[in-house]
Amino acid sequence: MRTTADGFLEWVESTERRFQDFDQLAAGLETLLLDHVLTGNVEISATEACTQFAKALPLALSKCDEPIYDAPFVAEAYAFLHLLERYRRFSQVLDVLLRAGVLPMRDSGIDILDVGAGPGPALFASSDFYDQLTEYAEKHSIAGLATPQPKPHAVEASPSMGHVMHWISELSNRRGPHQRRLGSFQGTDFDQLRIEEREATVRALQEDDPWITISDLFAWQDEWRFNFGIFSYFLTNERIISETRRELQSLFASMRAGGVVVILGAVAGNYRKVYKAVDKLAKREVMRRIEQRHSRIVCDHADRYTFRIKQVYSRVWERLDAEATGLDALKRELPKDLWDPSAPIKGMREFGLRVFRRIDMAPQRASWHKKKGKIAWHRAGYGPAGKSTTVKSSVAQGVMWRSHFKRPISEYGSADCAT
Ligand SMILES: C[S@@+](CC[C@H](N)C(=O)[O-])C[C@H]1O[C@@H](n2cnc3c(N)ncnc32)[C@H](O)[C@@H]1O
Repeated sequence: MRTTADGFLEWVESTERRFQDFDQLAAGLETLLLDHVLTGNVEISATEACTQFAKALPLALSKCDEPIYDAPFVAEAYAFLHLLERYRRFSQVLDVLLRAGVLPMRDSGIDILDVGAGPGPALFASSDFYDQLTEYAEKHSIAGLATPQPKPHAVEASPSMGHVMHWISELSNRRGPHQRRLGSFQGTDFDQLRIEEREATVRALQEDDPWITISDLFAWQDEWRFNFGIFSYFLTNERIISETRRELQSLFASMRAGGVVVILGAVAGNYRKVYKAVDKLAKREVMRRIEQRHSRIVCDHADRYTFRIKQVYSRVWERLDAEATGLDALKRELPKDLWDPSAPIKGMREFGLRVFRRIDMAPQRASWHKKKGKIAWHRAGYGPAGKSTTVKSSVAQGVMWRSHFKRPISEYGSADCAT
């Protein structure tokens, strides 16, 4: 993976393949805002829609870690402000993972969980990235690099955000995600969700459901497991960490072997404490922090992506200037580069990234501490749930695993697939 990274990254920019996907997303966002949101409808005039949308902007900018998103026009305002820039940042994160040789991959396609997904920037960026990678692999006959489309799972508390994500997905011709898989992250227990899957299968078998067979009985163990976990501007303060400690542990414990969890945010302020608290939690769940040198990623504000973002800002402001009322006072609360077409986008200089990887328990590395090995194997979904499996030798592990699940080990995201 490392050796092909440079070739792919050169190809994806020089052919404009990445920019085309970005442009398509930008066009989808413009269509949503200009043709659906800012036009008004039978209940609300265009003037009123534009005025309310404009009023939602300072709120979406200043209180983004509060439950504001179901107030009128706030989710749309958030998408307008952040969707494209966050998509870019997440593409940069994927580049870092690819270069470091830890981009999650799996023969049958990875499962991605995005917690606090918002309008979906990280999921859209991931889906596009894996498409681009596959296209590159096919064009250059690199068999190991082609990978099926990832399965995106959005955890998002706000129904309005869910609708915005759905519409952007439709309007930019993407395959998804179209809906939230889970609402609030608080209270999510992946072990419990798996047990519910098992019970549902047993019930279906008892009821002679023709679509369910005995072999489906084991499938529940692989449900609600992930190869890629994303927290993009969600873990913004220590309070959220302490409120979601159990949920975070449950997610870490549900990562498949070789699975990666990334946390994006700012580089300073509250974030330092947040990163430290997550470091501690991750360590306990046999997730290892990797690539410390990638903890700061520089943002570029002078390229064609920024130019396209500016274009979206300008087109939307043109509409607001024509329709909304009370804009003069509002503009004083907002950064100039948002509403003044001649002001270049300034934006953040850099953003923070933490990358954790599930400890690699592939057979060749199984000499790791035996006790920890038991935990890691169970939590990565290897042993029969509820029973302790003594890991005796690498061969035994492979045999136990294969005979229990009757699927190749690579399907479950072993470390081999990620390198
Ligand atoms: C600051 S936004 C980040 C959105 C997106 N990840 C990004 O990078 O732009 C935080 C998102 O988390 C959602 N959220 C807040 N609390 C949540 C919870 N307990 N469970 C799930 N989603 C939540 C909000 O509705 C909002 O969409």
